[in-house]
Amino acid sequence: MMIDTKRDVNSTHENWVMSKRYRMGILGATGVVGQKFIELLDGHPWFETAELIASDRSVGKLYPEAVTWMGTAPIPKAVSETTVKRAADPLQCDFVFSGLDSSVATELESQFASQGLPVISNAKNFRSDPTVPLLIPEVNPDHLCLIQKQSWPNGGFIVTNPNCSTVGVVCSAKPLDDAFGVDALQITTMQALSGAGYPGVSSLDIQGNVLPFIRGEEEKLEMEPLKLLGSVVDSEVQRSEISISAQCNRVPVVDGHLISISVQFREKASLEDVEGVFRNFNSPSDVIDLPSSPDQFLHLFDDPECPQPARHSLLGGGMTVSVGRLKACGVLDYRFVSLVHNTIRGAAGGAILNAELLVSKGYIGNRDS
Ligand SMILES: NC(=O)c1ccc[n+]([C@@H]2O[C@H](COP(=O)([O-])OP(=O)(O)OC[C@H]3O[C@@H](n4cnc5c(N)ncnc54)[C@H](OP(=O)(O)O)[C@@H]3O)[C@@H](O)[C@H]2O)c1
Repeated sequence: MMIDTKRDVNSTHENWVMSKRYRMGILGATGVVGQKFIELLDGHPWFETAELIASDRSVGKLYPEAVTWMGTAPIPKAVSETTVKRAADPLQCDFVFSGLDSSVATELESQFASQGLPVISNAKNFRSDPTVPLLIPEVNPDHLCLIQKQSWPNGGFIVTNPNCSTVGVVCSAKPLDDAFGVDALQITTMQALSGAGYPGVSSLDIQGNVLPFIRGEEEKLEMEPLKLLGSVVDSEVQRSEISISAQCNRVPVVDGHLISISVQFREKASLEDVEGVFRNFNSPSDVIDLPSSPDQFLHLFDDPECPQPARHSLLGGGMTVSVGRLKACGVLDYRFVSLVHNTIRGAAGGAILNAELLVSKGYIGNRDS
């Protein structure tokens, strides 16, 4: 499966980029996010999966024997003949994607960066490091300049993508912040089961139930948007000063986090103004032509029944964030719901788009073909 893509790219640099193939490793290849990397990268125009890394439980097995495959299509052929390696083994790749469990991500991602490899991570471990970009290409591509402050030997570096719910919040808050200045956000999430990894939450805990606690999640939602929406001054991110209150719930949905958001602005805005901002926000021109960039970054639904996780998470190949139920709020200014596909835009797809931006900007790939 590939992300909904558009591949006619014309500039000289981009033609050069497209003529190269980048070999990449997937750390945590057997997990929920690792599997989504494998699905999305099958047939990718620039990247090919060369190495699969997982824990001792999986090392030495052919990938199909190591994984509980959850994809709807069969495991891609090339990957099905690949043996899973351990992180300490010698690897042949140009960069790595990480879907590592956070208990091991600090050590293993540092190890790869120290070997001179770019590490494009989904794990939380380096997100708050002031030298590490926390990146959504449509939101803060200018934060890539932080990479120059990293001091890994041999040109290695780490770039992270945000928590999956943070992605749904920030993608919808960014256009509003640009237009009216966001002062406060009140957030309640309804998060899908795939967000908890595999095997995740026990069926007896979640069947016909809602779990009103996800460890560490509310803290991430209250901190990460401040970095993402911060400005770069002298190669440092000055965090946004938005006040955020977040409550997170796990719900019996397979994929797609639905998030209720109330927002308060610094400037007055009519309902039509807010609708117009959601409808007219465009991805930056240097992002829109990347292979995994969706045609539409944000989709505003008028139908009050939308968006729904089961029906709309895969809009734009899972890379479009949907917004709906927009109306005036009795406490803050306006309220709406945002829907993000947690393992695509909120994890593997977001990381692939990050890597594409890094290639297109020359951070990855100054190697011989
Ligand atoms: N799921 C989501 O929607 C989502 C969204 C955004 C970010 N994230 C983050 O992405 C990361 C992966 O999440 P997930 O949901 O895919 O988790 P998961 O299903 O539990 O997968 C964890 C992966 O880490 C591997 N691993 C564990 N210990 C290892 C070690 N010592 N050496 C090498 N590999 C090791 C596991 O390999 P084995 O199978 O061999 O044990 C597995 O491949 C986490 O940090 C998570 O917070 C997840």
